[in-house]
Amino acid sequence: MKKIGILGSTGSIGTQSIDIIKKSKDRFDLIFISGHKNIKLLKEQADELNPQFVLITDLDAFNEAKKMNFTCKILFGMNELVELINVETIDILLNALVGHVGLIPTYTAVKNKVPLALANKESLVTAGHIIMKEVYANKSIILPVDSEHSAIFQSLQGNKMKNVEKLILTASGGPFRSLSYEEIYNKKAFQALKHPNWTMGRKISIDSATLVNKGLEVIEAKWLFDIPASKIDVVVHPQSIIHSLVQYNDSSIIAQMGRPDMRVPIHYALNYPERINFDIERFDFMKYNQLTFESPDHKVFPGLSLGYTAIEKGNSMPTVYNTVNEVMVNKFLMDQVKFYDISDRIELEMNNHKMIINPSIEEIIALDKEIRMRLR
Ligand SMILES: NC(=O)c1ccc[n+]([C@@H]2O[C@H](COP(=O)([O-])OP(=O)(O)OC[C@H]3O[C@@H](n4cnc5c(N)ncnc54)[C@H](OP(=O)(O)O)[C@@H]3O)[C@@H](O)[C@H]2O)c1
Repeated sequence: MKKIGILGSTGSIGTQSIDIIKKSKDRFDLIFISGHKNIKLLKEQADELNPQFVLITDLDAFNEAKKMNFTCKILFGMNELVELINVETIDILLNALVGHVGLIPTYTAVKNKVPLALANKESLVTAGHIIMKEVYANKSIILPVDSEHSAIFQSLQGNKMKNVEKLILTASGGPFRSLSYEEIYNKKAFQALKHPNWTMGRKISIDSATLVNKGLEVIEAKWLFDIPASKIDVVVHPQSIIHSLVQYNDSSIIAQMGRPDMRVPIHYALNYPERINFDIERFDFMKYNQLTFESPDHKVFPGLSLGYTAIEKGNSMPTVYNTVNEVMVNKFLMDQVKFYDISDRIELEMNNHKMIINPSIEEIIALDKEIRMRLR
């Protein structure tokens, strides 16, 4: 039995992980789950799966939860959460938190040698230089949950990084693929949230529409696979069947494919290094008789090029890229700004940023806070 902790169990990745745990009760011992505001769902999950701890990070929600008759112990806040991330308590942590809040749990897991199934890409984007240093020094492991990175991880098995010519990340292109700047200009959040292939949380859905998600993923891949961003290409593949590819020095390309279903990379990460039978629908070639590929349109979707610029400049620039995006996406979701205000503001803030060289975790957290206060 693997002892597992799931952070963000009430979210899109979190609920799909809970689904997997329910189907694999003989393989996983659920030690803790966490949520921010959705205490109703947390209670349902706790009643059904009986974890030892439920962690709540929103104070009002925690106070409400105290009145709700949880049968297990309920804890409040990041400090309590961090206390649980150690090898005595769990064998694997799934970090499915959204945004910058995932940073401390990711950092704590790699520092404490707890194998980490990582969905929270934002933590690697902002602090990849620190997190990967800890991974190498402590011989800990990060198992990617993002479908593209899981595909690359799987396509690298049995091969040597020195033989890799480039990584190719696929992108669906999002709901506005093939529209012009003018057509996209007045689009609202409810339209941007309609992703053609995946059902995801609200923040990543908007990131997919702007292609900032792909920029974040280029940075995530750079750190996970220790490869320069110049060797990471992005190709638009609207069907989302090929999840990503690795091109080798003999011209061979190895790809991983399947139906777009996040439960597959989650299941792979949680069971790694084993491949366990998974009773879900299989891919049917006849349903997808055409797989197509396009170049990303950098003019219509500047969010991707900004990601390349952020990682090229490195240091504190990816934090600016990530935090400004988080703030602007929130505003866009509340109909306070327009679609292109997201990438315009990221560009402006990146241009004005006074670089912090080799930032520490504390400096990254302070910079994130400063940007949030200023852009409020
Ligand atoms: N969804 C996907 O298909 C997908 C695919 C690839 C990668 N990812 C990555 O996976 C991560 C999670 O994405 P998601 O789509 O699952 O997000 P989501 O549906 O929005 O879920 C986010 C989770 O984080 C919790 N949370 C929100 N704000 C918090 C805060 N301030 N402090 C602590 N917890 C907080 C939420 O709790 P409450 O709901 O209780 O408020 C929820 O459990 C992201 O980094 C995303 O980029 C997602």
